[in-house]
Amino acid sequence: LDVIDAIFSTRSMRRLKPDPVPESIIWELIDAAIRAPNSGNAQRWGWVVVQDAGTKEQIGGWYLEAWNSLGEGRRAKLKRLVRGLVPGRGTDGSEAEQPVDVNAASGTHLANNLAHAPVWIFAVMQGIEGEPTVVDGADVFPAVQNLLLAARKHGLGATLTMLHRRRDADVSALLGLPPDARALALIPIGYTETPTFSTPKRRPVDTVTHWERWGAARSRPERPPT
Ligand SMILES: Cc1cc2nc3c(=O)[nH]c(=O)nc-3n(C[C@H](O)[C@H](O)[C@H](O)COP(=O)(O)O)c2cc1C
Repeated sequence: LDVIDAIFSTRSMRRLKPDPVPESIIWELIDAAIRAPNSGNAQRWGWVVVQDAGTKEQIGGWYLEAWNSLGEGRRAKLKRLVRGLVPGRGTDGSEAEQPVDVNAASGTHLANNLAHAPVWIFAVMQGIEGEPTVVDGADVFPAVQNLLLAARKHGLGATLTMLHRRRDADVSALLGLPPDARALALIPIGYTETPTFSTPKRRPVDTVTHWERWGAARSRPERPPT
């Protein structure tokens, strides 16, 4: 699996088996995570590995509440977004062409089964006063992506999630975080129910790329056959 293949087959995997993940792999995932860029190499992060059923049940319940409280507006927006991203479907959103709302379905599955994921890793940032800033996030999310890619290498599914943050103070207390630390991401990890590491669905690259100035588009030339 070369790096491009890994990137092109790493997407949110939310249907996970409860089978345990060897500790040696957990170490490797976090060791890969901490190779990421971070400002001034201050490495303000810490990684909390959670496998305890009680902790997972508690936080999983809070996560489910947060998921269920996402308004209809948000769900409708998600639906429209997914419609526009699935190849071969129109963006007009006609019901006849409407694909299954994969994201919402798998999101609901994860929300109802979060505690069954065998390993959770929290990406924690220290030195935060009040609400986390853009830089606080930028300082840790590259590391989270490294972790997701390393999980992919081992055939492990994972998802970057943040809904636990609706109960930020409770989560911090349960994890025993210092006062200036926040759990910015929760990554549930496990072997996947179906080993389908397909390419993440995105708008075509030439629709989001601007040359020299915003709005100056170019078509991407055909790629040579590999
Ligand atoms: C900042 C951020 C927060 C996210 N929070 C959640 C979350 O709480 N729950 C979830 O299931 N997915 C979450 N995701 C994953 C996105 O839903 C997912 O990356 C997106 O829908 C694209 O799907 P893909 O990763 O399968 O390509 C989050 C992603 C990001 C970048």
